[in-house]
Amino acid sequence: MELVDTFGRVHRDLRIAVTDRCNFRCQYCMTEEGMVWMPREGLLSFEEIERIARLAVERYGVDSIRLTGGEPTVRAHLSRLVKKLAALDVDLAMTTNGVSLPLVANDLRDAGLRRLNISLDSLHRDRFLELTRRDDLDRVLQGIDAAIDAGFDPVKINVVLMNGINDDEIVDFARFGREKGVIVRFIEFMPLDADEKWGPERVVPLKRIMEEINEVFPIEPVERTSAPATRYRYTDGEGEIGIIATVTEKFCDTCDRIRLTADGQFRNCLFAVTDYNLRDAMRGGASDDELAQIIEGAVHDKWAGHGIDTVHFIRPKRNMSQIGG
Ligand code: GTP
Ligand code: 5AD
Ligand code: SF4
Repeated sequence: MELVDTFGRVHRDLRIAVTDRCNFRCQYCMTEEGMVWMPREGLLSFEEIERIARLAVERYGVDSIRLTGGEPTVRAHLSRLVKKLAALDVDLAMTTNGVSLPLVANDLRDAGLRRLNISLDSLHRDRFLELTRRDDLDRVLQGIDAAIDAGFDPVKINVVLMNGINDDEIVDFARFGREKGVIVRFIEFMPLDADEKWGPERVVPLKRIMEEINEVFPIEPVERTSAPATRYRYTDGEGEIGIIATVTEKFCDTCDRIRLTADGQFRNCLFAVTDYNLRDAMRGGASDDELAQIIEGAVHDKWAGHGIDTVHFIRPKRNMSQIGG
């Protein structure tokens, strides 16, 4: 059976947050005071995560799983989980801040992880330090090299653009991607930051990103899929870029995503305001059929889209690291 919502969207892409913790303290993920982490016993065990993933794959034909966080590599023995999920034969990917990759890229690759997206919002050391509160730009750059060397293909770099903060780095990032042979994806800043600094004036729109790059390195559109990124290729054949335009060109109509948070809550949208508690159901002895009922109910309740651009928009109470990107 397929996991179809009331708008006819079929859901085949499961994003799993394995922890809410992070080894960075990004300005846009946490306030100066830091965060209150979820209690450890509240996090799903690898066995519990595997159970939900297996159900999603075997019952609903989910064919793509992405590990997120917080920072997934902060979770001890992550490659054990990767091995379990790789056995489900899905497109298995992870989004990471990259800082641990020099140490773990090979292990993760050997365990069966196929694709890596690495978040990096500035190529300037001082700016990187200001944004992440860690002086680790060099280690992230080494992490990108480690990912390439370990054979991840493609490696994508996620750049969240924020007006007045890093919007002067668009062409530099494009050049970086071309030189390294990685796909740089520019992301419109979304209202999911802990500090609530978001405002529409902070968003760098797709149109501007595309035009700035096109002026220096001509690009042309690539046909789009259900994935969030609008893709462009360089006309000289030197690779491609993506733009994730959640705000100015939302892609909710083709959304195929469901989410599991580190504390075992099922969510039907990145911007959902409701959690569906699979953890307590599992720990209370629920059967697979009972878990499936919760999942199907949650997908049935899914809204048409996020409505950031409307007066009806409600900010989720959870921030990005508690949802899992
Ligand atoms: P690929 O499968 O490689 O395309 O990965 P992805 O872009 O789906 O995942 P990634 O974790 O790299 O996320 C990149 C950006 O897209 C982040 O800012 C995410 O928050 C955003 N994003 C991912 N999934 C969704 C979604 O379902 N809805 C919205 N609005 N944004 C999303
Ligand atoms: N808006 C857009 N993207 C964000 N990310 C984190 N916070 C935001 C936000 N407020 C990105 C991270 C990571 C991905 C999972 O989400 O940089 O690449
Ligand atoms: Fe899907 Fe929600 Fe993202 Fe829209 S905002 S693409 S509905 S997860």
